[in-house]
Amino acid sequence: MAKRKLNLAVLISGRGSNLQALIDATKDPDFPAQIAVVISNVPDAKGLDKAGSHGIASVVINHHKFETRQDFENALSDSLTNYPVDLICLAGFMRILGSDFIRRWPEKIINIHPSLLPAYKGLNTHERVLQDGQKETGCTVHYVTPELDSGAPIIQKRVSVYPDDTPESLAARVLEQEHEAYPEAIRIWAEKHGEAQS
Ligand code: GRF
Repeated sequence: MAKRKLNLAVLISGRGSNLQALIDATKDPDFPAQIAVVISNVPDAKGLDKAGSHGIASVVINHHKFETRQDFENALSDSLTNYPVDLICLAGFMRILGSDFIRRWPEKIINIHPSLLPAYKGLNTHERVLQDGQKETGCTVHYVTPELDSGAPIIQKRVSVYPDDTPESLAARVLEQEHEAYPEAIRIWAEKHGEAQS
């Protein structure tokens, strides 16, 4: 039985290279998902141009315009319900989402994080990996749960750390793996949760 494509909402705050990797993945007819909407909390996020140049709908929900996180997240929910969203993909989305919002989408929010979780939750992962003299790091796509960077991993990719690495050189190598990992994670998610089309 043919499966319908899953509809993704991709949430960004900046450059959007992971968004671009997802856009590229959707060009493959066998990829199980399409992007229904890109939402940015930053009005001039570069990733918005990437959505626009591929004819993908985009929405800006500027968190500065809301008095409380709850108000921002209500606007985000309202916006998401305007689109046929099966899965919310956080791709460099730099807002922490509250537990009420997360519980509205059980197992339907995933995130990419530039470390081998549970190691190095939070920000500045590459700096901390280098300070600690780690020989290996990587990236993780994981389910989003109310506790930051703590949901079950869907996929991880490993990256060697070289003695002459800087945070920037390491970030660049990890980013290459992120671009492989995110589409793979969506394939895995679709296998587990995708519905057959009647
Ligand atoms: C990525 O390194 C991602 O892991 C982290 O933020 C960065 C976003 O990069 N959460 P981009 O906007 O996808 O280029």
